[in-house]
Amino acid sequence: MDKIALSVNRLYEKFPYPSLPIRTEHDLISKLHANIMGKILATAGLEPDLLSGKEILDAGCGTGEKACYFSYYDAHVTAIDLCRSSLQKAMGLAERFHLQVEFGHCDLAEFRTEKRFDHVFCLGALHHTRYPYKNFAALADLCKPGGTITVGLYNKYGRLAHRVTRMWIGLRAGSDIDKRLEYVEKSIYRRKLRSVHETAYVADKYVNPHESYHSVGEVLGWFEKNGIAYIGAHPQVGEGGFSAFLTQLRWMVKGSGFFIVSGRKN
Ligand SMILES: C[S@@+](CC[C@H](N)C(=O)[O-])C[C@H]1O[C@@H](n2cnc3c(N)ncnc32)[C@H](O)[C@@H]1O
Repeated sequence: MDKIALSVNRLYEKFPYPSLPIRTEHDLISKLHANIMGKILATAGLEPDLLSGKEILDAGCGTGEKACYFSYYDAHVTAIDLCRSSLQKAMGLAERFHLQVEFGHCDLAEFRTEKRFDHVFCLGALHHTRYPYKNFAALADLCKPGGTITVGLYNKYGRLAHRVTRMWIGLRAGSDIDKRLEYVEKSIYRRKLRSVHETAYVADKYVNPHESYHSVGEVLGWFEKNGIAYIGAHPQVGEGGFSAFLTQLRWMVKGSGFFIVSGRKN
C-alpha cells in the first residue's frame, strides 16, 4: 500500500462512506434508485432488470449499498475496498437483506483476478489513488468485450471553488483529520453534525487527505486508449470538445463537483 492509500485509508477507517441510513428494503432499492442508482445505470444504458446473471465488479465499494443493490437484482457481485471498517458494514448490510456479494479487502491498484466482468463500476475511488489512470486501465482490462465500465470522478472545473475551501481548511486546521473535521463543523456547518452518514459525507468532502481532479475530455482520452466507446454521462455532457468544455464551465458555476462517465469495451 503506498503513502496515499495509507492516508486515505486512515480517513475511511474512521468514517466509512457513505454509511447511508438504510432501514428497509425500500431504502436500499427504491430510494437508492431514485437518488443515484437510476442515474448511474442510465449512463451505461442499463436498467435494473438487465443486471440479472451479470458479473459485476464494484471497485472501492465503501459501505456496500451499491453492491447490495446490484445483488438484489440477481447480479453476481464482486466488491472490493481497502477499508476494513467499510467492508464490515457492507457485509452486515448484505447479511441483513440476505444478499450474496463476494467482498474482498484489497487495494484496487493491486487487485488481480482471472474473472472478467460484464459491468465494472468504480465510483468515487480512483481520484483517491496515486495513479488514477493506471488504475483505470487495469479495471478496463477486467471488463469483458462488449461489457461496460463506469467511473465517477471529481471534476477539474466543478470542484474549483471547493478546492479553495479545502485549502482554507488546511491553512486553518492543518492536516489532522479530527482537527479538520472539528473546524468544518464549527466554521462551515456552524452546528453539530447530525448523523453517521452526515459525518461520513462531510469527512469525505472536506477532510480527505488526497484527491485528484479530472475533465470529461481527459476521461474520454482514457477510454480511447483502452478501446472503450463512450455511452453516456451524468450530469449530461457533450461528447468531448467545446460543448463538453462549456458544460463543465456551467458545473463550475453550479459547483457540480462529481461526474460519472460510462463506456463500452470494444
Ligand atoms: C468516496 S468512497 C465511495 C464509496 C462507494 N463507491 C460509493 O459510491 O458510495 C471511496 C471509497 O474508495 C475506497 N478506496 C480509496 N482508495 C482505495 C484503494 N486504493 N483501493 C481500494 N479502495 C479504495 C475507500 O476506502 C472508500 O470506501
